[in-house]
Amino acid sequence: MDGVIRERLHSDVVLVRQVAEYIIQSGGKRMRPALLLLTAGAMDYQGPHHLVLAAVVEFIHTATLLHDDVVDESDLRRGHQTANAMFGNAASVLVGDFLYSRAFQMMVTVGSMRVMEVLADATNVIAEGEVLQLLNCHNADVDIQDYLRVIRFKTAKLFEAATRLGGILGHADPSLEDALASFGKHIGTAFQLIDDVLDYSADEAETGKHVGDDLAEGKPTLPLIHVMQQGTPEQAHLVRQAIIDGGREAFPEILAAIKATGALDVTREHAAREAALARAFLSGLRPSIYKDALLELCAFAVNRAY
Ligand code: IPE
Ligand code: IPE
Ligand code: MG
Ligand code: MG
Repeated sequence: MDGVIRERLHSDVVLVRQVAEYIIQSGGKRMRPALLLLTAGAMDYQGPHHLVLAAVVEFIHTATLLHDDVVDESDLRRGHQTANAMFGNAASVLVGDFLYSRAFQMMVTVGSMRVMEVLADATNVIAEGEVLQLLNCHNADVDIQDYLRVIRFKTAKLFEAATRLGGILGHADPSLEDALASFGKHIGTAFQLIDDVLDYSADEAETGKHVGDDLAEGKPTLPLIHVMQQGTPEQAHLVRQAIIDGGREAFPEILAAIKATGALDVTREHAAREAALARAFLSGLRPSIYKDALLELCAFAVNRAY
């Protein structure tokens, strides 16, 4: 899959190559392609298209990261300066567009209308999710349902597409294809819930991202929503004001309120429930090393420190 990625990053335009290689070569967990390859493997897929579709999913993911880091004004990703910090916002946005459109060129080579439908829909929903989140920033009235909608759109949808595509490649019957898609949706939701925990608690050397970026943006994630709902009136007021104002000044006090109310554990428990739902959707798969690995990824999505 990484071989396909390297080959398909090519462009005669030097800056495209520089930026695209910079972000892709800096690593990343390759979670979404892993899920596609493992679900296809679990379906005993023997054909030639899994590697290109896995690379497509990683290209779409990488394009969203290039755009996301501009929007979030982030300067650290995968342990390095973000592409926007290194090359500027304009180059990041435009090379993100290059990666999206390259992904669409690649998916056409599979010659399946259904595959293109799944990926076109996922890409569109991710964009909606990022816009929805933009609308929610600095809004302290966002509730758990609003928050879950954003993370299902911006993150879980691509996980869902990856696992559905594994099913489509392996000729899963409609109910098994839907079960694999639901597996992806729930593991993706768990994955983003933990991302939002790590934004308050991670070791930056492990995640390769800064702690506190969500608060700086005034992003109402579940840890903050929990404090507003379950904290003392003082704690709730503190968090409301921090969401409205954004910035990093209040971080130590907010973190204290998060810890005092157990908000990170509540968020982790929510992620664990999503992962358990995900696991249950794998019951229709025959035993295999692929299925075992998918189950392990459910645990990783919840227990990860990076
Ligand atoms: C980061 O995704 C964006 C989120 C949806 C949380 P990953 O944590 O999968 O990023 P990489 O690819 O491993 O860097
Ligand atoms: C990233 O969301 C979601 C997409 C990639 C569309 P975040 O903004 O929460 O992720 P990080 O923390 O920057 O990786
Ligand atoms: Mg971000
Ligand atoms: Mg973001």
